[in-house]
Amino acid sequence: MKTYNIAIDGPSGAGKSSISRAVAEELGFIHADTGALYRAIGLYALRNECLEEEKITQEIDNIHVSLKFIGGVQRVILNDEDVTEYIRTPEVSMAASRVSAVGAVRALLLGLQKKIAAESNVIMDGRDIGMVVLPDADLKIFLTASAEERASRRYLELQEKDENCPPYEQILEDIRQRDYNDSHRAIAPLRQAEDAVLVDSSHMGFNEVVEHVTALIRDTLGL
Ligand code: DC
Repeated sequence: MKTYNIAIDGPSGAGKSSISRAVAEELGFIHADTGALYRAIGLYALRNECLEEEKITQEIDNIHVSLKFIGGVQRVILNDEDVTEYIRTPEVSMAASRVSAVGAVRALLLGLQKKIAAESNVIMDGRDIGMVVLPDADLKIFLTASAEERASRRYLELQEKDENCPPYEQILEDIRQRDYNDSHRAIAPLRQAEDAVLVDSSHMGFNEVVEHVTALIRDTLGL
């Protein structure tokens, strides 16, 4: 059976996951947040002290990750344990960033991501979905916003949660550093595919982006 596959890539903090989730719900597709897979492997590397490239590569056969969709909501399973609640800490973000540069890790996750797309109508978000994972996606979107706008959104979000949130300048610096890392690594760097539609949300509200992306998908798929 033919499944519809939508690829959404872009830098950290562009709102890919929240936008993808809302659009998927609107269309009745599943939303696969592939960053969560890298985060699960980052968590494994932290727990088993194998963050270095050589060590995580040696461990690769002991790592089994998968995504489960319960009522369309994604859960991340690492060796039979649901780790969804443990993968959003700053330590795991850093570990995910390190392990995502390792070839054996990317190879392990490639097959899994392709399988999810072959089995379901999916909005898949990440960094290399349009370029590497789903080069034949029905629609590719590159969702971005200026580094300043992404930093100020993150700052407001953190401020609501935590009075000791880092200063805006620090958040901006971190975003610039992550942009550099993601787009300069040797394997599958973040890059806009030639056939991707650019959506710059710098001057758009959340609902506006969701409506725009949903309309792009409906037009392309004739839904
Ligand atoms: O989107 P995120 O912050 O949850 O991603 C976590 C890490 O995984 C981030 O450092 C980028 C990396 N990643 C990747 O290399 N390829 C993807 N398709 C998704 C995420």
